[in-house]
Amino acid sequence: MEIFKQIAPLKAFLKDLKSAGKSVGLVPTMGALHAGHVSLIKTCQSQNQITVSSIFVNPIQFNNQNDLLKYPRNIEKDTLLLESVGCDVLFNPENAEMYPEKSTINLNFGDLDKVMEGEFRPGHFSGVALVVSKLFNIIQPDHAYFGQKDWQQFAIIKKLTGELNFNIGLHSVPTLREPDGLALSSRNERLDPEQRQKANVFYKGLLQAKAGLKDGKNIRDVKKRVRAVVEEYPDVRLEYFELVDSENLNLLENVEQSKQPIMCVAGYVGDIRLIDNMFPD
Ligand code: PAJ
Repeated sequence: MEIFKQIAPLKAFLKDLKSAGKSVGLVPTMGALHAGHVSLIKTCQSQNQITVSSIFVNPIQFNNQNDLLKYPRNIEKDTLLLESVGCDVLFNPENAEMYPEKSTINLNFGDLDKVMEGEFRPGHFSGVALVVSKLFNIIQPDHAYFGQKDWQQFAIIKKLTGELNFNIGLHSVPTLREPDGLALSSRNERLDPEQRQKANVFYKGLLQAKAGLKDGKNIRDVKKRVRAVVEEYPDVRLEYFELVDSENLNLLENVEQSKQPIMCVAGYVGDIRLIDNMFPD
């Protein structure tokens, strides 16, 4: 695997491959890699000749400094994992390479970033969209891969790609879960064994909501039930549960209001913030 910390040599390396007619796929990450990330890499490898993964803990998408400081980092382990799955290129820049000057650009996504993660993490999606735009411009991939786990992020990146005319095929990959349903996440590394045991309450809440919606329960009752399931333990807190349209993220009262609704949930186990989602059908 070729490893680059600088933009210029990475661009030169990819230019040669592209002139040789190779297709390039990109899997952007913040590291602390797990099987969910590997599933993105494998999908990318199956559809492209060259797979580039980036590892960059993007400071400007963290609205909470504590979350940024405590974000798990293990570049040696990540590098070995990427080598072992046959990733071709790793881009692992320092902050100064990505942001030589303090960034002043703000990106807004209208209704898409007013709800859910956008409401509870002000500025988060502007930071995500900016770093993803930079990665798209630096790497100029043919295809890019994102997880369904961060559904709102995917919806916003789709909008970004369309509005800025990036000529890149976007793909979302299904969420990989632990056997008890907990969605794999880098932040799971921070859960102590007791917290880890409780952390699948978000998944359980989604299952309950799915059953409730199927039975025709109204959204207020469904939300009440989700809160009861998630907040079964005193140190677990529900931040939001919403039923939304999966394209425009408009809040819904029932599944009939959208062609493809999705249920999204977020909350805390101790001080660790987790999110998850599920299609109700
Ligand atoms: P990160 O949280 O490292 O996630 C990188 C990619 O892996 C994202 O597209 C995410 O949706 C996907 N992913 C995470 N958990 C997954 C799971 N259990 N199953 C399948 N895919 C999963 O998302 C980010 O980084 C950043 O915001 C980034 C896009 C890199 C911009 O900084």
